[in-house]
Amino acid sequence: MLKIIHFSDIHISAPLGSAAALFDKRVIGYLNGAIFRRHAYRQERLEKAVPMILEEKPDVIVFTGDATTCSQPEEFEKALDILQPLIKSGIPILYTPGNHDCYVKDKKCVAALRDFRIALTGSDAAQSRFETGECSFLIFHSAVPTSPVLSCGYFSQESVDFLKKECAEKTKPLIAVSHFPWVKVEKGIAGSRRKLYGAETAREYVDSGDIDLVLCGHLHTPHDLVDWTGRGEICAGSLTKKGIFRRITYADDMFHTENIYTN
Ligand SMILES: [Fe+2]
Ligand SMILES: [Fe+2]
Repeated sequence: MLKIIHFSDIHISAPLGSAAALFDKRVIGYLNGAIFRRHAYRQERLEKAVPMILEEKPDVIVFTGDATTCSQPEEFEKALDILQPLIKSGIPILYTPGNHDCYVKDKKCVAALRDFRIALTGSDAAQSRFETGECSFLIFHSAVPTSPVLSCGYFSQESVDFLKKECAEKTKPLIAVSHFPWVKVEKGIAGSRRKLYGAETAREYVDSGDIDLVLCGHLHTPHDLVDWTGRGEICAGSLTKKGIFRRITYADDMFHTENIYTN
């Protein structure tokens, strides 16, 4: 049996740490966080979740991004401090950056994300694969800095090529790890502002059964779009907003997902 713990969208925040932040998207992200999100996103839910995750003794921990509010080095440091017991445990951690982790092109922010990824997973590769005896995990990075009004992602040609190649060589169930949902389509202006461009291509591989399961975040309300074998898409939702993370087990060719609540 394979046991996965999946959480997402912790959105750790910190006061603006540099004057340069006043002249890019960070000032919007910070004000949005300080004014509208301050009471909704509670860091203590993550602090409570960390020992609960360790108690679960999972084989793999999947964190589908949005570690920060606006990619500030101070936010990455704070997140890393809280996640340190998970790193120390030696349990493999799979992480893909969210749009809030790639918020701006500022060099210090970009370097902070790289350091965070290396500290958490040992790598900052664009796409990568992780193997267990039961399943393979494909980790996709689709976040890039965008204009202040957008929170979308882009499924790159590199991702398409990687997906195609891995599916052609598939020998066991494939689990895609993505910040952005592939299956759930949101309608209207909000949906187009925060969609994954190129998701239609990625979704075809789920529909065909080549990709067994997509683990994602980005949408802060969790969703399960799965068939009777548990295959499809699981969105963990925001751990610090909803106080929830997921326990996913794979046994007898079935995926089984349960919610774990921190409060
Ligand atoms: Fe988010
Ligand atoms: Fe996001």
